[in-house]
Amino acid sequence: EKGGYDTFMEKEIFDQPDAVRDTLLGRTDEAGRLTLDEIRISEEDLKAIDRITIVACGTAAYAGMVAKYAIEHWTRIPVEVSLAHEFRYCDPIVSERTLVVSISQSGETMDTLMAVKHAKELGARTLSICNTHGATIPRESDAVLYTHAGPEIAVASTKAFLAQITACYILGLYLAQLRGGTYADDAAKVMGELQEMPAKIEEVLGHLERTREIARFMADTRSVLFLGRNVGYPIAMEGALKLKELAYIHAEGFAAGELKHGPIALIDAGQPVFIVVPGPDTPHGLHGKVVSNIQEIRARGARTLVIAEEGDEAVVPFADEVIRIPKSAPLLAPLLAIVPLQVFSLELSTAKGLDVDQPRNLAKSVTVE
Ligand code: F6R
Repeated sequence: EKGGYDTFMEKEIFDQPDAVRDTLLGRTDEAGRLTLDEIRISEEDLKAIDRITIVACGTAAYAGMVAKYAIEHWTRIPVEVSLAHEFRYCDPIVSERTLVVSISQSGETMDTLMAVKHAKELGARTLSICNTHGATIPRESDAVLYTHAGPEIAVASTKAFLAQITACYILGLYLAQLRGGTYADDAAKVMGELQEMPAKIEEVLGHLERTREIARFMADTRSVLFLGRNVGYPIAMEGALKLKELAYIHAEGFAAGELKHGPIALIDAGQPVFIVVPGPDTPHGLHGKVVSNIQEIRARGARTLVIAEEGDEAVVPFADEVIRIPKSAPLLAPLLAIVPLQVFSLELSTAKGLDVDQPRNLAKSVTVE
């Protein structure tokens, strides 16, 4: 069942182009307009939505953080991301014009289920992004948008994460199209860019030898930091979570702009730091700002492991290692940037002789609060 791979996790990482491709399948008509038959909330109600709250835990919550940047940009609807266990007990602001979107691979996570039930009691419309047909959370929700990643066996989530991000993009573009406005006409164009992502993920998967080598030499490392900005920020967080789960190494992800507000004090000689660099075309000059961050930490002795687009030469003078990903639309880049980080953790865990598919203390589906 592992399809020739040593572990389920590795197989699932290599399944990711298909997970994205299958999640995109059948979402557009011949004219390239999005059609979401599964969403059983009336168009009228969807047009009236004035706030979106995403509830999820762990990796699914990081998918939600990526979604916030994309959905707000395309629809101008305010999006908040709430850890499901925090949402449930914090007196959340919710009305019948709030769309509460839950994201869950299993569809059985108790914290997320309780958040959805609570949202319903408060009168919200609820939509479930879920990978498991007929699971409890989609059954409890008004509407469902299934991800088609296929069964995920390894405890650490990989392909479900990419499928969740993809489903969130689809939802955002659908809402943009439905509500009119600046991005309504662009939805088809972005869908086209999204359709190109599976082939780009394949490209990333074909060039991972150096990433694996870097990981194998780091089996004794005690701490790794991950920096990102904009959609790269949740990717830094997810990269850190994978390393904690799989290799039991202290890891922290943070927004690159936070560096000078504290974390830069952690940088000393040899400290490994992954930096997820936004593409040079990212708005607001973010690329240059992150390149300066790399320069700053390198000057303080950090070992800089840089994930950057092909052709981005600006990073080279400050990088100890450059891991390349293909060019893509800035909001879609998380589907590429996370892949080397997943493989890094997989390889490091293997180098330490650990059980990749069943990390200690963890269960695949957390059905208790
Ligand atoms: C991390 C991981 C967990 C899950 C979280 C939510 O690798 O697997 O953080 O993402 O427990 O699980 P689901 O998506 O099933 O609700």
